[in-house]
Amino acid sequence: MSHPELTELNPQNIVTFIGGIFERCGSEEYLGEPVTMAEHMLQGATLAERKGMPDEIIVAALLHDIGHFTSELGTFSMADTEDRHHEEAGARLLQAFFPSVITDCVRYHVAAKRYLCAINTDYYDSLSTASVHSLYLQGGPMGQEEIEEFEKNPNLKQIIQVRYLDDAGKSPAMKTADFWHFAPLVQHIVDRHCEFRGHNT
Ligand SMILES: [Fe+2]
Repeated sequence: MSHPELTELNPQNIVTFIGGIFERCGSEEYLGEPVTMAEHMLQGATLAERKGMPDEIIVAALLHDIGHFTSELGTFSMADTEDRHHEEAGARLLQAFFPSVITDCVRYHVAAKRYLCAINTDYYDSLSTASVHSLYLQGGPMGQEEIEEFEKNPNLKQIIQVRYLDDAGKSPAMKTADFWHFAPLVQHIVDRHCEFRGHNT
């Protein structure tokens, strides 16, 4: 398995690079939840696939936390007293290769939690302990102005869908396929996007 530097990534090696992240790091990281990070993301993607959701939603759920592994700031810990902004790191990694609907779902999955907590108290009550801990590091529920701004995003519906998949993918009992099951779909989206942008090398 090759490990290209971030600057050497291209449409032909990005999927292998992401698969390597799942294999090398995914089984070691826990996020304060009873599942590994790889299991968490695979569960979200599997739930989306089982529900017959669009390809972009499946792939966004699969990749939404990838920034935990690419951020120079390190990974989440329950002892954190400051947020590490993994969502921005993930979106930056993906933005050359994936459409904005996917990078928006990644970039705003934390904002979506702050949004849903502000508009729906049942949602807040449903969050896991780790998710409530990180909520307050991330700024707490949105205020009215932030809500109005957030609702202007053209990908709002998809961002919320991925947020619910994020929250659902924390079950120690759930079994999923591994990353390579989803790899052809991820490559298909990369190829379509990069062809469209004339990005092929
Ligand atoms: Fe997540």
